[in-house]
Amino acid sequence: MTERTPAEGLSNLLTEQRRFAPSAEFAAAANYHADAYAAAAADRLGFWARQARRLDWETEWSEVLDWSQAPFAKWFVGGTLNAAVNCVDRHVLAGRGEKVAIHFEGEPGDSRSVTYAELAQLVAQAAHALTSLGVAPGDRVAIYLPMSIEAVVSMLACARVGAIHSVIFGGFSAQAIYDRVIDADASLVITADGGYRRGKVFALKPIVDEALAKSATNVAHVLVVKRGGNEIAWQDSRDLWWSDVMDQQPTVHQAQAFDAETPLFILYTSGTTGKPKGILHTTGGYLTQAAYTHNAAFDLKPETDVYWCTADIGWVTGHSYIVYGPLANGATQVIYEGTPDTPHQGRFWEIVEKYRVSLLYTAPTTIRTFMKWGEDIPARYDLSSLRVLGSVGEPINPEAWMWYRRVIGGERCPIVDTWWQTETGAMMISPLPGVSATKPGSATRALPGVSADVVDENGQSVPNGAGGLLVLTEPWPAMLRGLWRDEERFRETYWSRFAQQGFYFAGDGAKKDDDGDLWLLGRVDDVMNVSGHRISTTEVESALVSHPSVAEAAVVGANDPTTGQAIVAFVIVRGGVHANSAGDGSADSESGAALVAELRNHVAIQIGAIAKPRQIMIVTELPKTRSGKIMRRLLRDVAEDRAVGDVTTLADSSVMDLIAQGLATAKPED
Ligand code: WTA
Repeated sequence: MTERTPAEGLSNLLTEQRRFAPSAEFAAAANYHADAYAAAAADRLGFWARQARRLDWETEWSEVLDWSQAPFAKWFVGGTLNAAVNCVDRHVLAGRGEKVAIHFEGEPGDSRSVTYAELAQLVAQAAHALTSLGVAPGDRVAIYLPMSIEAVVSMLACARVGAIHSVIFGGFSAQAIYDRVIDADASLVITADGGYRRGKVFALKPIVDEALAKSATNVAHVLVVKRGGNEIAWQDSRDLWWSDVMDQQPTVHQAQAFDAETPLFILYTSGTTGKPKGILHTTGGYLTQAAYTHNAAFDLKPETDVYWCTADIGWVTGHSYIVYGPLANGATQVIYEGTPDTPHQGRFWEIVEKYRVSLLYTAPTTIRTFMKWGEDIPARYDLSSLRVLGSVGEPINPEAWMWYRRVIGGERCPIVDTWWQTETGAMMISPLPGVSATKPGSATRALPGVSADVVDENGQSVPNGAGGLLVLTEPWPAMLRGLWRDEERFRETYWSRFAQQGFYFAGDGAKKDDDGDLWLLGRVDDVMNVSGHRISTTEVESALVSHPSVAEAAVVGANDPTTGQAIVAFVIVRGGVHANSAGDGSADSESGAALVAELRNHVAIQIGAIAKPRQIMIVTELPKTRSGKIMRRLLRDVAEDRAVGDVTTLADSSVMDLIAQGLATAKPED
């Protein structure tokens, strides 16, 4: 834990007075009404049981929640169900087979729409394919795919046969894949030759090859979807084309129901140490909350709405709000392969217009990028189909919120700012679009059934108007069930801070306003949030010090107008390496610039391009406390161009002067 004050630079949020109530028409037709909160509070477990009944269970549970082994929860004890059947087959059985489940839009402009009946056949074939490759219930399958129908089908096929998927974001490096494959002990990897990004094909299979070549793994097969058409190497004994295997399989598959607590997936996320945490989710509670929240927060009308979540399937938002929530609800949705600026900056709005998207879910960083590009771009498209606009991944600043509402939402669409985490599995804090009076920058309050609070260091609830730490005070169905094979870290990370009260510690700072509405203020630990992606400072530091020229590194997240936070690294080079980052024409500036470029690439190779520092400053000292802890607060002051704060706890208070002097002439990297 560092000394970060989460409210730094966000104080303007707290004087925000604007308020937007839903229109009378919206409220009248809404799925949820104001009484939902009291009803859920009066009988929380009864409320969740009602939500669970929206799914098809083969066996009903005997107990809604068993919390006797806290912090290990069991929800819907003894109940059995199959997640894939709930997401696909039951809609077909109910006569909705001809309804489009997914409109896929490829970056180069190709598109393909799949109905629920077609999706059922694809998932059936993929389930048979997994079994034919020896995948048994409980086995782990790593998925490293671009945004595609096959990615959705792969995940559902795993769920169908009781295998645990571990999706790895397509931007991660070979090292990151290797670490995840080893940690989860995966026996199968599903990938593609490549995918499209920014008008080019990016390779995926070659990165998997590189990962698996690092040392022996238990991966018996690599299943390869053809997408990029790029050249790839082939190992006959190991590699198989997806289409060859799929074509041989029957299109009907008899699914088995699994216990509600059967593991559904592992998803790795950055923690405060260098090693990513394998967040473990199970079936019944997760699916219940994913489906409920998707319905409630978006006011989903499955017959008429067209939903689009712009996240990648490699993140939890893609899991809960592309795959499990929307499909369990029988929604029609759009998925898009590429980036918002390819082939032009109007691509997103073109897609909204083309499919008449009514519910849009995206991230503040994307909204800020659109703001930068200018409102004349969305103005060229017909956005009148939009009904509800969602935001997720990081605090949304009031300016971006207001822009989203006015320019994209035509001042008629409620904005739902949804707070949640990989660990929570599903939304926890969000407005109800037909009920809540929203405020630019506030996620308002916990959804019905969810119990959140803001507490002080001692775990005491703070009064309205005060700030503190966000906690979840009661277990919830989609909560993580642990960290993959690391019980100690699970207890320590989330449950030790407020052990006495039994609260879940989220790692976020928050404030309650005078109405009791919640304002999320960002992480209070060493986890950065770059474009809505969690990256730990330690992870980037470890990547930097693994380079032979680096003796020591300290990394901070500095405020950035587009990405929310940006990674700024301070590096001490090893003796004998000559470099400075000044770029001022001094003798060794060229080697300094070259080293900085090399280090940025090195981080991309170690972790992935998303972790590339915006700026690397080569320094001779780092500010440390007497106990040797790096004072990131001071480095953040430097990175954000502020006067350096209190240095009295530094072992050597002249260090900051040295750093400031060294940087006076330094130019930031691009
Ligand atoms: C941050 C993404 C403010 C927060 C679903 C959290 C948010 C972390 C919001 C989880 C929001 C997410 N307002 N902050 N609406 N949504 N966060 O695991 O710091 O990738 O702890 O899950 O993102 O990130 P994760």
